[in-house]
Amino acid sequence: MYKAAPAAGPLLHWVKTMAFCRLLPLLVLIHNTGDLLGAEVRSGIVGGQDAKRGHWPWMAHLNITADGRTRWRCGGTILGRQWVLTAASCWDRHPKPKETRSMVWVGSHALQEASARYMGILYFISHPQYRNLGNRYLNDIALIKLKKPLTFSDNVKPVSLPAADDAFSPSSDCWIAGWGNVGTNVKLQDPETLQQLKISVVPQAACKRQHPEVTADMLCAGGDDGKGACEGDYGGPLVCRSARGLVQVGIASYGSPQGCGVRGRAGVYTQVSKYLSFIDYIHHGEAPDEA
Ligand SMILES: *[C@@H]1O[C@H](CO)[C@@H](O)[C@H](O)[C@H]1NC(C)=O
Repeated sequence: MYKAAPAAGPLLHWVKTMAFCRLLPLLVLIHNTGDLLGAEVRSGIVGGQDAKRGHWPWMAHLNITADGRTRWRCGGTILGRQWVLTAASCWDRHPKPKETRSMVWVGSHALQEASARYMGILYFISHPQYRNLGNRYLNDIALIKLKKPLTFSDNVKPVSLPAADDAFSPSSDCWIAGWGNVGTNVKLQDPETLQQLKISVVPQAACKRQHPEVTADMLCAGGDDGKGACEGDYGGPLVCRSARGLVQVGIASYGSPQGCGVRGRAGVYTQVSKYLSFIDYIHHGEAPDEA
C-alpha cells in the first residue's frame, strides 16, 4: 500500500556533508538493538487513558526552550543508544530553541515523578526538505543526538521501525501516546501520566479530502470520534502491530487548525517507512553500528 521513495541524491549529499561536518569531532559508536516488543497492549492526548508504567519504553519527553523561561513539549522515540526520532516542527513552534538548554527525558511515566534519565542534546538535525507551511508541515521529521548514550532497561528501550513495504490500513491495530494537551489549551492534569489512545489509520483518499496538502509521505489517523493528538503530543509516535511486533508507523505532525478534538478531523503523521534512508543515513552514517 505504501511504497518506499528512493532516496534523492542531493538529499543524501546534503545530509552527508551536514552530518560529516557536525559529527567529525565525535565519532561515537552507537548501539541499536533491534528488540522486538511482543508487548500485549490495552486499548492519551484527547480522549486517551493512562498508560501502564513501562508500556511504551521508547517514549521520550522533549522539554524544549530558547531562553530557559518559555518551555514547550514534544514527544519523541528512542531509536538507538544516542538517537531520538521526533518531528522537525518541534524545533519550529517558537523562536530559536537552544540545544544546550533543552532536554530529553527517557523512562518517564508521570512527568512529575523522577524520570529514568534527563539527557542533554548534542544537536537536532531536521530533514533537509522540511518545510513549515504555517500550521502544516512537509517532511516533518528530525533526529536528535544525545550527549551521552542511554542505558537500556525495562523502561528505556528502542522502538522498532517498519520495513519499507509494510502496509498499514484502517484495520491495523495502532496506538498513539503522549503527554500533550487533553483538549484545545487544556493541559494534561497532574501528575501528568503518559496517555495512550487506540487509533485507526485513515484511508489516503479520505485523508486528502480533509487535508489536501497531504503527500504520499504522510498519513492520517483518528478523527472520527474527535480523539487524537494535541499540542505537546507532536513528535511522538503512531505505532502499529505488524508481523514483527509493534513498529513506529508515524510521527505526529499536526492536527486541525480549528484545534484539538474536532470531530471528523484526522491528525496528520509523517510516514516513517518513507524516511528509512534518511534515518539510517543519519544514525548509521557517522560510525559503524556495533549492534
Ligand atoms: C521542563 O523542565 C523544567 C525543569 O528543568 C520543568 O520545570 C518544566 O516543568 C518542564 N517543562 C516541560 C514542558 O516539560
